Formats: sequence, structure tokens, C-alpha cells
Amino acid sequence: MKKSLVMMAGAATLVLSSQTFAASDMDIWVGSKIYDRAFGRGCATCHDIATNPNLIKNIKDGSLSYDRFKATVINGKNAMPKAGAAMDTVGKKKGYTGDKAIKAVFDYLKAGGGKIKKPKK
Ligand code: HEC
Repeated sequence: MKKSLVMMAGAATLVLSSQTFAASDMDIWVGSKIYDRAFGRGCATCHDIATNPNLIKNIKDGSLSYDRFKATVINGKNAMPKAGAAMDTVGKKKGYTGDKAIKAVFDYLKAGGGKIKKPKK
């Protein structure tokens, strides 16, 4: 019992400390839409393939920084197409373009990816 309380306190601290930098629910939801729809087929069509970098894993383990994420998305890299315009196309209806769109996708992946429910404003 005592142990589980300590663990719960630890989890609560983690949640609180991550919220200090946290994106809003709206950021993460729009990020998920951009990730699913950029280039029509979404980023996952390439990034869920084992031979390509796993963005969620690399962001979570700290090996993919926001700066490198942003630079790769803007400039492309080998088989990775430049994605800025494709991301803006999806994000702009919701007011997410440029850095704001890139950050939203990064935050969505950092939060673990998957299906996100539309937030109630
Ligand atoms: C046509 C397939 C394809 C699509 C679509 C694609 N990627 Fe990529 N991406 C790649 C490949 C292949 C690499 C590895 C490039 C290399 O290092 O040679 C990569 C690398 C990256 C990297 C660098 C990862 C690292 O660990 O350095 C990021 C960030 C990235 N992609 C983000 C995205 C985002 C965001 C989208 C959607 C907007 C996207 N990609 C869509 C194929 C794709």
C-alpha cells in the first residue's frame, strides 16, 4: 500500500513536471491530424516501417531533438521529403503553420502518438 502511494506520487510529479512545457490538448490534436494527413497519406506510411526512423521512439529516448526534427522536416534528408508545405496545408485551417505546425507534430509524437480525441476547445 505504502509502495503504491509512493509510485502514485511519482507519477503525479511526472505529469505535473511535463505539463510545465506541455503543449495544449489542441496542439496535440492538430499535431495528430497533420501527422495523419500530410502528403495525403500521412507521415506514418513511411515512419511506421521498421527500416525508417521511428519518430516516437527517437523523441521519447531523447535521440531526436526538436532542432533536428525541425531541420529535417524543413530541409528533407535523403528519402525524407521536405514536409513544411505539406504540413502547412493540413494545419492552416486550424491556424497551425510554420514553427507552430512543426512543434504541434513534435509534441504529438512526444506524447506517444496514437489516436487523439478532438478537445472541447
Ligand atoms: C516518403 C516517405 C516519408 C514520408 C512521407 C515522411 N518521411 Fe520522415 N523520413 C523518411 C526517411 C527515409 C527518413 C530517414 C532519412 C535519413 O536519415 O536518411 C526520414 C527521417 C525523418 C526525420 C529525422 C529522424 C531522425 O531520427 O533523425 C524526421 C524528423 C522526419 N522524417 C519527420 C517526418 C514527418 C513529420 C513527416 C510527415 C510530415 C515525414 N517525416 C514524412 C521518410 C519519410
